[in-house]
This record gives sequence, C-alpha cells and structure tokens, in this order.
Amino acid sequence: MTDPLTTELLDLALEVARRAGDLLRDGRPADLGVAATKSSPIDVVTEMDIASEKLITDFLERHRPADGVLGEEGASREGSSGVRWVIDPIDGTVNYLYGLPAWAVSIAVQKDGETIVGVVAAPVRGETYHAVLGQGAYADGRPVRCRPAPELERALIGTGFGYVRERRFGQARVVHELLPTVRDIRRGGSAAIDLCDVACGRLDGYYERGLNPWDYAAGELIAREAGALTGGRPGTPGSGELMVAAAPGLFETLQGRLDELGAWHD
Ligand code: IPD
Ligand code: CA
Ligand code: CA
Ligand code: CA
Repeated sequence: MTDPLTTELLDLALEVARRAGDLLRDGRPADLGVAATKSSPIDVVTEMDIASEKLITDFLERHRPADGVLGEEGASREGSSGVRWVIDPIDGTVNYLYGLPAWAVSIAVQKDGETIVGVVAAPVRGETYHAVLGQGAYADGRPVRCRPAPELERALIGTGFGYVRERRFGQARVVHELLPTVRDIRRGGSAAIDLCDVACGRLDGYYERGLNPWDYAAGELIAREAGALTGGRPGTPGSGELMVAAAPGLFETLQGRLDELGAWHD
C-alpha cells in the first residue's frame, strides 16, 4: 500500500515530467543552438534546458510550494516540508542538441534525504520509467526487472564521460583496460536512461564517474527497484565519485574491476 503523500508525489512527478517532455519534443527549435557553456566549452546549455526547468519549477511552486528544489540549471529552494525535488530538465543535452533520441527528463523526489520516487521520461524513445521505494520499477506502467548477471566477459556495459576534459584521460584509460574484457561498451549520452536500461535489461551494467545528483537520483532508484545493485567504490554508496549499477553477481565483479583500475582517479 502506498501512503497518500507518496501517491501524490508520484502522480505530480509523472505529470510534470510528461509536460516537460512534450514541451521538449514538440517545441524543439529547428535552429536550436548553444545558449551558454558552464564548467568547460563542451558543457553546454540550450534555451530548452532553461525552459524545461522553468516549466517544472513553476508547476512545483503551484502544487508543492513548501518543498525544496534542486535543479541542474540553477533552481534551488530550501523548503520546509522535508520533501525535495531533484531535477534534470534535460538529461542528454548533447543528444538533444544534435537531434539524437536518447534524452530524458529526470525527476527524483526525496523525503528526509532518501529518494522515494523516481521518474525518467524519454519522449522520443517513447517510454517513461518510474519507481517508488519498495514497490518495484516500471516502464509505461509495466513491471521491469534487470537482466540475470552474466560473466563480466559477456556483459554489455554502459558508461559516460563528464565534461571536464582533463578527467577524460583517466576515463579513456579505464575504457581502454575494460573494453577487451567485456562483451562491448555503450556510451548512450544520458545517465538517467543508462540506469533505466540496466533496469530493463538493455544493459547488463553501467558505471560513470563525475555525475551529479540530478543525473542519477531517479535512475538509481529505478535500477535498484528492478533488482540491480548500485554503489560506488567497494563499501560506499554510489555518488559523483563513482556510480556502478548491475545485477547481483555482476555488480561485485564490475565494481571490483573498476576498483582495481582506480576508476575514481582523474
Ligand atoms: C550528462 C549525461 C551524460 C553523462 C554526463 C552528464 P546532461 O548530463 O547524463 O550521459 O555522461 O556525465 O553530465 O549534461 O546532458 O544533463
Ligand atoms: Ca544530466
Ligand atoms: Ca541536464
Ligand atoms: Ca548539463
């Protein structure tokens, strides 16, 4: 049984993710360009990242004015209710800029610091994923489970690279070492979708260094509720330092391999 507050939060998260997804899919300017850069010249923001975050925060202001908010493009509000919304208005901005389909609106709802609801809407892909803590993971309302763990040698592994160029040498070194020892590697371009792909069995595992909470908060809950394990360095929770997700059995092997390779080093 879901309590009334969680039901309300899930319904609102699904509704606002759908509205933002519609805006992004239907309102993408043909001549969309880069509006600004952030941490480096390849860390880009478009007018649609800003418009999507505004739509979401305006909606929350109307429906949940006492809640806290943390959004990638600067939305920040303390709140007084113990509930906080962690928002990535477009996860996969570079894909969106180029017209590639793998981008999503990612919304997590946290209660007293714990993620209790996760929604990842991927409108061009045509799927919305969601999870409620302790109640399983769903794609368009259908339950999903992660794929049974293969040996690392037969695992399809997703990953991604942050925008700090200097750190990419270390990330390239890890790929260089890992690639010959797994089935193959995918770089989809949206961390939220990568985590949902682990949830749906479209990837066996995923890892990335340098994520922010808005990239992984919703997707991590969805992956866990689909049966995957998530974490960072052995014995630590997943974080910006390192996020690893895979089915039990593969998770420990992948995490151990990344530990040997020092995947958290720059
Ligand atoms: C990025 C995407 C990408 C990942 C980067 C993220 P953004 O988010 O999730 O897949 O590799 O680390 O920053 O900037 O498109 O929201
Ligand atoms: Ca992101
Ligand atoms: Ca983003
Ligand atoms: Ca970004």
